[in-house]
Amino acid sequence: TVQKATNIVWHGGNVTKNDREKLLNQKGVVLWFTGLSGSGKSTVAREVERRLYEAGHLAYVLDGDNIRFGLNRNLGFSPEDRKENIRRIGEVAKLFADAGVITITAFISPYRADRDNARALLPKGEFFEIYVKCSVEECEKRDVKGLYKKARAGEIQEFTGISAPYEEPLTPELVLETAKETLEESTNKVINFLVAQGVIK
Ligand code: PPS
Repeated sequence: TVQKATNIVWHGGNVTKNDREKLLNQKGVVLWFTGLSGSGKSTVAREVERRLYEAGHLAYVLDGDNIRFGLNRNLGFSPEDRKENIRRIGEVAKLFADAGVITITAFISPYRADRDNARALLPKGEFFEIYVKCSVEECEKRDVKGLYKKARAGEIQEFTGISAPYEEPLTPELVLETAKETLEESTNKVINFLVAQGVIK
């Protein structure tokens, strides 16, 4: 994306990311959840956030409610709009991670290239792709919001998994199989992963 503004200078502060991480007793990272609508991204993300909070850690979930109703309210679901959606979320997540927060994004993010661009914004070891794996059949069976039914009926265009693509992660750092694991098991996998990576102790 083009840099439009000229005569701008990047300002670093006097307090560093490392200082903030010491204050919070954790590392600022991005946990990038990706998966189909209804796969359980938000549910697991919220549970991880709660568990971290109870353990005295600061985490924050970025998802549809706080992004598509606000910052990205001008974007729809065309490939171009999804790309811009993910680009902005990647930039916001980067800022949150720099603030020292364990940042969890919960968006379908169906395109590999868009996810890779988000990954490229962060240093190695600060971006972890978590594939919330669940078949279209299972998501459609759940159909919590009734959207698959509408998509099948042609009432929603370009619906991921039905009439728009979902490109599976090739080398995610972690895979959660929400049709085979309980919510607690999936959550534990994420928490254990964070300990193994040295994000929390
Ligand atoms: S994306 O692809 O990452 O930009 O999508 P995201 O921002 O995560 O938004 C997905 C939620 O929007 C609802 N919705 C749709 N999803 C997919 N395709 C189409 N056409 C669509 N229209 C609306 C849907 O409720 C998704 O919510 P989740 O939480 O994923 O179930």
